[in-house]
Amino acid sequence: MKILVTGGAGYIGSHTCVELLNAGYEVVIVDNLYNASKKAVDRIKEITGKNLTFYEEDILNAPKMNEIFAKEKVDCVIHFAGLKAVGESVSKPLEYYQNNISGTLVLCDAMRKNGCKNIIFSSSATVYGEPAFVPITEECPKGTPTNPYGWTKHMIEQILTDFHTADNDWNVILLRYFNPIGAHKSGLIGEDPKGIPNNLLPYVAQVAIGKLQCLGVFGDDYDTPDGTGVRDYIHVVDLATGHVKAIDKIKENPGVKIYNLGTGNGYSVLDVVKAFEKACGHAIPYEIKERRPGDIATCYSDASLAKKELGWEAQYGIDEMCADSWRWQTMNPDGYND
Ligand code: NAD
Ligand code: WQD
Repeated sequence: MKILVTGGAGYIGSHTCVELLNAGYEVVIVDNLYNASKKAVDRIKEITGKNLTFYEEDILNAPKMNEIFAKEKVDCVIHFAGLKAVGESVSKPLEYYQNNISGTLVLCDAMRKNGCKNIIFSSSATVYGEPAFVPITEECPKGTPTNPYGWTKHMIEQILTDFHTADNDWNVILLRYFNPIGAHKSGLIGEDPKGIPNNLLPYVAQVAIGKLQCLGVFGDDYDTPDGTGVRDYIHVVDLATGHVKAIDKIKENPGVKIYNLGTGNGYSVLDVVKAFEKACGHAIPYEIKERRPGDIATCYSDASLAKKELGWEAQYGIDEMCADSWRWQTMNPDGYND
């Protein structure tokens, strides 16, 4: 089976390509390298010892996308390509809607024209907004996103669902990720944020290696065990294997399916700091700051549906996530460095 992976040179995409190749799938990546490096593609090949096809292309380029689909005869698409910085999306809504929503429409039109109607989409726990209950099951109602990035996930879920309603040949699996962290055990691929990281783990890793001075902990007065925000961190390799399982599911022509990909465990910011200190062997300086606008107190999954229907569950705990993140950081202090 041939899988086309949009955004396959990115953080989650590159790890997923490794697992796809290891599972024996043929892989075609389409990535415009807006937030990724060509080196990631080379390293996927190095880790797996296998080849893949790489197109440096924008999914908004309709003629090119048609050409690629006509040539490659793809069975299923895993759609990672998108812009993902929550704060930036507030100041650049047009860019976010255009890239994420128009990009998805161009992609799906090329798929339809070429008879490929199987898509696995990178959604996010952000669609639950302030969750109605925790642990969050897939039954939890979608909330109101607080930023354009979140709205793109919310809307694309609806768009893909409508495709299936209009044409039952479409199979759509919406994977709602919780907080992906960590890196491949080889230390060859990992998260390489541009500029100062927005997310907790890359920030902590850069403080640990001395590139940043001190972690700001955004609020210690939440209604959580230690007052700091609680999240469901999931190892990126576990997330990647979840996609391989989703391909098994899509082969059953399931219609529209939604799965949470999380561990089911919540860890606070200070829990993460402690786990990272264990991984790197020294203290991580931090100071308590104001709450960050738009943050919620607690967000963790009930991941039992994915276990039941996909036969998937996360294997790695927080200590391994931090150890692997630290290995990537020490082996690549400046990321892919290009
Ligand atoms: P990433 O930025 O590392 O990967 C996205 C990739 O898409 C990049 O390689 C980028 O170059 C590419 N891309 C962007 N726009 C493109 C376009 N128009 N044409 C072709 N390629 C394009 O991000 P990631 O963390 O790997 O996230 C992958 C997906 O998962 C995204 O859709 C993101 O919204 C979603 N997601 C991420 C998280 C997270 O915390 N990392 C959580 C939930 C959902
Ligand atoms: C985690 C916790 C912060 C940075 C975001 C997106 C979400 C999804 C994943 C894509 C929170 C605290 C953080 C820092 C801190 N992405 N924190 N100091 O906010 O749960 O989710 O990424 O879909 O949509 O919103 O992740 O890593 O930013 O924050 O104290 O410097 O760490 O307040 O409690 P978040 P995060």
